Amino acid sequence: MEKLTSKKLMNMWAEYWTQNGHQKIDGASLIPNDNSVLFTTAGMQPLIPYLMGEPHPKGKRVFSIQPCLRTNDIEDVGDNRHHTMFFMLGNWSIGDYFKDDAIKWSYNFLTNEKWLAIPKEKLAVTVFEGDERVPRDEKSANLWKECGIPENRIFYFPKKDNWWEIGGGVGPCGPDTEIFYDTGKPACGPNCDPSCDCGKWVEIWNNVFMEFVVEKAGDPLKKLPQQNVDTGMGMERVVSVLNGFKSTYQNDCFEDAISVLEELSGKKFDFEQQDGKPFAVICDHIRASVFLLGDQKPTVPSNVGQGYILRRLIRRAVNCTRRLGINAQDLTKVAECFIEFYKDEFPNFVTKRDFILSELEKEIEKFNKALDGGLKEFSHITKDMKEGDTIDGKTAFRLFDTFGFPKELTVELAGEKGLKVDICGFDAAFKEHQQKSRDNSGAMFKGGVGQTNSEEEQILVARLHSATHLLHAALRKVIGPTAEQRGSNITPERLRFDFVCDHKMTDEEIKKVEEIVNDSIKANVPITCEEMSVEEAKNSGAIGIFESKYGDKVKVYTMGQFSKEICGGPHANSTGELGTFKITKEESSSSGIRRIKAILVK
Ligand code: SER
Repeated sequence: MEKLTSKKLMNMWAEYWTQNGHQKIDGASLIPNDNSVLFTTAGMQPLIPYLMGEPHPKGKRVFSIQPCLRTNDIEDVGDNRHHTMFFMLGNWSIGDYFKDDAIKWSYNFLTNEKWLAIPKEKLAVTVFEGDERVPRDEKSANLWKECGIPENRIFYFPKKDNWWEIGGGVGPCGPDTEIFYDTGKPACGPNCDPSCDCGKWVEIWNNVFMEFVVEKAGDPLKKLPQQNVDTGMGMERVVSVLNGFKSTYQNDCFEDAISVLEELSGKKFDFEQQDGKPFAVICDHIRASVFLLGDQKPTVPSNVGQGYILRRLIRRAVNCTRRLGINAQDLTKVAECFIEFYKDEFPNFVTKRDFILSELEKEIEKFNKALDGGLKEFSHITKDMKEGDTIDGKTAFRLFDTFGFPKELTVELAGEKGLKVDICGFDAAFKEHQQKSRDNSGAMFKGGVGQTNSEEEQILVARLHSATHLLHAALRKVIGPTAEQRGSNITPERLRFDFVCDHKMTDEEIKKVEEIVNDSIKANVPITCEEMSVEEAKNSGAIGIFESKYGDKVKVYTMGQFSKEICGGPHANSTGELGTFKITKEESSSSGIRRIKAILVK
């Protein structure tokens, strides 16, 4: 087959579903109509009222090519497969066909010579194994067998893998069947299957059989008045695996942007190497920024809501220009590549070209000014320091608070001069500031121009940080004391926690961990901090990393009888603030280390 480009795939999608009696619905805004979520995160989102029973003006069979934006993995962007904005190709039956046609048509689109022509040996599918509410999905498994998928390529997985629901669990939902592409990489071990993250298996398409609804949090599952099909195919991923790319950034939509960056920087984008990261981050974040600014409901950078995310995307891209040694204002040249590439499908981008570029310019300028001020201050602070000295936490925090200087930038610049930064002190100053502004007036979003984190985000991070301690303690109860921490990363949207564990956690284990954490939250105990020597901390039974990196005294955070851990903070004030804890992913991180991602919902 000739090379599959994203444009070609989009055209095929439209042709295929039109042939099968579907009407095209135009891509909806990235900003949803209801305000339960910040962005459109799936093609089905604009269709929720219809999936719940309202008649759709275009009938019972529709398809779309929907730009989506997800920020929960923003820190992972820069590797070979994560994106914030991506295109989801979807087809829907709104109370019309169900499993038979959906599976038959999916199989045909994937394998037929006229369409994607994937050899069937390259495919594997997963189906729902059933639980106490809904039986095992034998029907879907049998349909796959009839298509010609052999039994050893059909996997039954539990709720966390093969049940689709909107984040938080309220709304239409149902079992799904996911289709995976075998990249041909050798299996990572005897248990390597499509639930494994080793890179052998890539999920390319999801068919959700949406016949249930949860009306409000805590309600039992109810049948919807109709049976729906909701599918989603990640465009960037499919193009990438079918071309055998090493990275989704080899997609045709990024080609021009990458050429511009290569020319400006004199560097080559190595798709597999860590130093390729700034290229990928810029490509992703600037494409997302063009889509947000050029949207039918445009977002502009600000300190709240969607505007804050846009600000964060642009500023992260600016930070990457430093790493490539290019002028930040040249990001507008990258934006122009995307305007040009998408101009046929998104004519808005052309009419709003000046607006998109000038908003981008303004935000870059604002951030640059703040950074310039910060750089001067940094030179001033460090001029009399000598190698091995430490910048104290309060000073590092002032750089952040007054000049919008990201903590990582301070650490990086300090490193260049052989200096250290008191991170623990930074976090303490951060916490103190957070407390003050909370006491001040409840004006959550008062942050100045240079501020990189809104007050709201700081609070979210502190809560997730406290949830991380509870998770750590719960894992040690469920898996055993060997479940030591191996890594942790928190964004305002989610926590990520790596720990020692020699097996994939079972559903029961995950449920148990969630229960323990939620019980500790319900108990609403205060979160207190004490300073003590490492020796005292050890004797008090605190867990954590004992090598005293930051001097003799360490801080120990206690949450009632639930958790006692060495840590620099910041944390929430009491566990009751955290809401409801939910594990969204459990996967392998490396050999013998598992990784959990989790969120807090209200
Ligand atoms: N809603 C499903 C998903 O997001 C299929 O579209 O994967």
